[in-house]
Amino acid sequence: MKKIGVLTSGGDAPGMNAAIRAVVRSGLSQGAEIYGIFDGFQGLVENNIRKLERSDVSDMIIKGGTLLGSARLDEFKLVEVRQKAVDNLNALGIEGLVVIGGDGTYRGARELSAMGINCIAVPATIDNDIASTSYTIGFDTALNTIIENVDKLRDTSASHHRCSVVEVMGNRCGDLALYAGLTVGAEIVITKETGFDESEVLQRLREIDARKQKRHSIVLISEKITDVELLAQKISNNTAFSGRSTVLGHIQRGGSPTARDRILGTRYGDTALNALINGETNVCVCLVGDEFITMDITEALAVTKQSRKDLFELHRRLV
Ligand code: F6P
Repeated sequence: MKKIGVLTSGGDAPGMNAAIRAVVRSGLSQGAEIYGIFDGFQGLVENNIRKLERSDVSDMIIKGGTLLGSARLDEFKLVEVRQKAVDNLNALGIEGLVVIGGDGTYRGARELSAMGINCIAVPATIDNDIASTSYTIGFDTALNTIIENVDKLRDTSASHHRCSVVEVMGNRCGDLALYAGLTVGAEIVITKETGFDESEVLQRLREIDARKQKRHSIVLISEKITDVELLAQKISNNTAFSGRSTVLGHIQRGGSPTARDRILGTRYGDTALNALINGETNVCVCLVGDEFITMDITEALAVTKQSRKDLFELHRRLV
């Protein structure tokens, strides 16, 4: 395979640039031409494609975001829209693609593979919600951003006998909230898996206060569960803590990638490129134990996320 394209799609994630860099440099070192597709699948449809050289990815490993830009393109579900993408790729002689993103990106890759474009998907999303792999690119950096910010909230919370209710991202996956809860020593973690019972949360905060061992409390909650502003008010009205809410929002998606995300991005990118050169298609790269393997995309999308019951129990024991 001589001409290979690379794109990033969906929500950006720190470490995507490390993956792009690995695809470009691994590809060039094996004699392939690498083409950057800008703004995800939209760039494929609009023919926003440019040949990349080694220097195009210089210094990129340290940067958050994605140098190729990203987009969410609902219309890519339509076969006529995808046909435009295939025509553009055929006109340029691009036979294979590395697509970097979340599960929506995987579905796009599967459809393109079925239309004759060899595709390899790489898991990148801060949510860590791709069950076929242990860790997605971006999760570790987002987690560290949460830790840094919650540590700051703790200082002010402790000074004022407050309870900080912190909403974190994750879409429908609770990993960011749970791992952050474990690493900052939050008093309460609420995710889709734990469920949300307001009166139980208030009762637990009253119990924590009754122990008189803590001057503050941290409640970490996944997005899309409840209105955190309202919950903070209820805490003020029904416990001895004064409640304050903070929505960390898109700050979690930015920043220079951690060492772990740089290595993950590099290894996922290199594995994807090699899979493509070896003639694989319609597969995604997965981290299983310490090994980087490939798996059929349909099979990967059918894997369901393991329960984190053990970690939730561990968290409760340590509060
Ligand atoms: O999938 C990554 C993510 O950041 C989710 O955690 C969040 O729900 C969503 O994207 C936000 O999307 P947008 O940037 O389009 O608002």
